[in-house]
Amino acid sequence: YEIYLNGMSGAVPRLPTDLTRLEELAEQRLGPGPVGYVAGSAGNGSTARANRAALERRRIVPRMLRDVHERDLSVEVLGRALPAPLALAPVGVLSIMHPDAEPAAARAAAAQGVPYILSSASSTPMEQVAEAMGDAERWFQLYWPKDPEVARSFLNRAKAAGFTVLVVTLDTPLLSWRPRDLDQAYLPFLRGVGTANYFSDPAFQAGLAEPVHEDPNAAVMHFVGMFSDPAKSWPDLAFLRENWDGPIVLKGVLHPDDARRAADAGMDGVIVSNHGGRQVAGSVAAADALPRVAEAVGDRLTVLFDSGVRTGDDIFKALALGARAVLVGRPYVYGLGLDGRPGVEHVIRCLLAELDLTLALSGHATPSTVGPDDLVEDRT
Ligand code: FNR
Repeated sequence: YEIYLNGMSGAVPRLPTDLTRLEELAEQRLGPGPVGYVAGSAGNGSTARANRAALERRRIVPRMLRDVHERDLSVEVLGRALPAPLALAPVGVLSIMHPDAEPAAARAAAAQGVPYILSSASSTPMEQVAEAMGDAERWFQLYWPKDPEVARSFLNRAKAAGFTVLVVTLDTPLLSWRPRDLDQAYLPFLRGVGTANYFSDPAFQAGLAEPVHEDPNAAVMHFVGMFSDPAKSWPDLAFLRENWDGPIVLKGVLHPDDARRAADAGMDGVIVSNHGGRQVAGSVAAADALPRVAEAVGDRLTVLFDSGVRTGDDIFKALALGARAVLVGRPYVYGLGLDGRPGVEHVIRCLLAELDLTLALSGHATPSTVGPDDLVEDRT
């Protein structure tokens, strides 16, 4: 109601409340290089389109007369009480969007009480982001470095900086074929953006012949070789269990058998995700993969979801398909680019308000009662 009441005195929101409009606005204001990197996806974009289509194809069947006057969006996720089934997805290189970068997004998440998942490829060292957040809930996303000493050092730094949950991204052993970046010859990492976490790391520095400031190009190339490791396989997960005490969640799981392997390996959760359509061109839509994964491991693991969430009703649909909570990526990144920290808060608040109304109008007072019966699949 705040927005309508402000409207009575002529004040309209600074950013649109239909978050699907943010991308176009960001492109107009921030230019094609950075926004192309954020908006872009693998191949001809079919996976990103399929993510949206799979959510839109599912339709909610609202129920009436179920007393929804008091509602509570809170959920328990990995032993944590969250105010709503929402977290900010790990997105690296945020300084290409706004000079306030990750600390601004992290502060916005902290103010709204939703977990902030910090990317390994943050353009700000993780300790500075942690400091910006006080004691608010923060998780650390690991791109698993080739050098185990750097991996161990990242985990130790993250622990010391108060990150609670470890999110390990499995779908990026290599960067995919991304035509928008290739055609513009634009890759933030090669400009030294998204390397601050690495460059500030003592184990990373130990692998350099010269200090970072004396030979920044060599440091960037060292980063490129370190970034990820296509040689990893399932038995390697034991290393993470040995070096991290808290919950571990594997991000980028799409096949039910991989989810079962995650459970067998002692992991705590999976994120059903195709990286927002940025890795495997032609991949299954994340929302189509979700029910099969939830059915396979929903009783053993916490199942989270991302890729394509743009509205409150998308969150509702993901819950109905078996997710405990969702992550949102690009919308908050555009919010950051357009208006810094308030832009990110705008995105979070819009999503939560719309989710609250979708729940209420569909006959639910809490996320916990949402299930497969609330959806039909539109096959036209
Ligand atoms: C990402 N994503 C990502 N994931 C990750 O684990 N570590 C990272 O550093 C990044 N970096 C990143 C940069 C940009 C610009 C984008 C758009 C995405 C993937 C991200 O966590 C998430 O899976 C997707 O963004 C979800 O899809 P939507 O919400 O963007 O459709």
